Amino acid sequence: MTTKANTLAEITKKDFPLFAARENNQNRLIYLDHAATSQKPRQVIEALQNYYSFNNANVHRGAHQLSAKATEAFENAREITSTFIKADSSREIVFTRNATEAINLVAHSWGDSQLKAGDEILLTLMEHHSNLVPWQLLAQRTGCSLRYVGITPSGELDLQDLQQKLNKNTRLVSLVHISNTLGCCNPIGEVANLAHKAGACVLVDACQSLAHQAVDVKSLGIDFLVGSSHKLCGPTGIGFLWAKEELLEAMPPFLGGGEMIQDVFLDHSNWAALPHKFEAGTPAIGEAIGMGTALEYLTSVGLDKIQAWEKKITHHLFQSLESIDHLKILGPKPEQQANRGALATFNVTGIHANDIAALLDANNICIRSGHHCCQPLHRYYKLSATARASLSFTTTINEVDDFIQELSATISFLKDHS
Ligand code: ALA
Repeated sequence: MTTKANTLAEITKKDFPLFAARENNQNRLIYLDHAATSQKPRQVIEALQNYYSFNNANVHRGAHQLSAKATEAFENAREITSTFIKADSSREIVFTRNATEAINLVAHSWGDSQLKAGDEILLTLMEHHSNLVPWQLLAQRTGCSLRYVGITPSGELDLQDLQQKLNKNTRLVSLVHISNTLGCCNPIGEVANLAHKAGACVLVDACQSLAHQAVDVKSLGIDFLVGSSHKLCGPTGIGFLWAKEELLEAMPPFLGGGEMIQDVFLDHSNWAALPHKFEAGTPAIGEAIGMGTALEYLTSVGLDKIQAWEKKITHHLFQSLESIDHLKILGPKPEQQANRGALATFNVTGIHANDIAALLDANNICIRSGHHCCQPLHRYYKLSATARASLSFTTTINEVDDFIQELSATISFLKDHS
């Protein structure tokens, strides 16, 4: 690939203080852990700094000018989020602490009020713990059952198994869009069709897809979607739930307190209109504004350009990794699934993933090792840990090449010293 092909990565890298500070510097840092958390562009850092420096006030409360300004910026972030996923209305966007909290919100508000013993929730073996544990807790509370869709030999969702497990008792199918470990991109539209025919709702965990491809909740035909700001160039401490308005209207509140009420009496209260019914207490105002700025940033870079570049470097990453002996990559190859995620999770026979990650780190290359919050998936593959390199639109071909070179040297060293 030519240097020219690096243009998007080279241009956008300059927006990230962490990368810009180390450019042309001996002390280079190759960050290949974007799936754990993304780095933040200066636009987002400045939005946070600007809010806390000049616009800090509580929202929806004060009559004063500062509160009005903060409220406008906060609600504008909700509009941006709604537009980003092509929702019908910002009333359908509930700000949460993160995607985990958004799933817990659905499990409590929708699950507790709708599900009973005999009902079934269909999950998959590739889910992150955040899309497993809230449903296990719900099953304990309500007596509903959890069933799990399997994985094909190529590391993709087994649609046939999903079809077989869907039945008249299935009330919800909850699954990841792009797996943080397998990297596979699940056919959400097809899943939603099948689920709806069976009378079930669909929840999508879009944490690993929102920063990598355009997501349109209406064309996916789903009911709930959760996202996390820190995975998409925004701050930590803020995420969101999108749900169809009629579902949110019918759901009781999740947490109680200020902000989510219309009137409070000593013996009862009634609730604020959507989406505030689900936002108890002072929200993460600056962080929501920062997330809005991150979404605008991604939009200005262009999701289509991001996806096209990430496709190229993922292909290059796979080709290079496949040439390393005794290294096995989990999940579908780019040739098998063109829209797979920009990451490669791998295992090297006889070598612990943590040793690989530690030695790479000594050379300023950051990858993740461990179970990636997917213990059941690792158990399925009979692996206690894997190594994962996850890319972004800022990743250059040279960085992938340097990573591969260091990885090969690391593996040889560990084999010689085992
Ligand atoms: N879920 C995050 C990851 O995949 C933390 O690394």
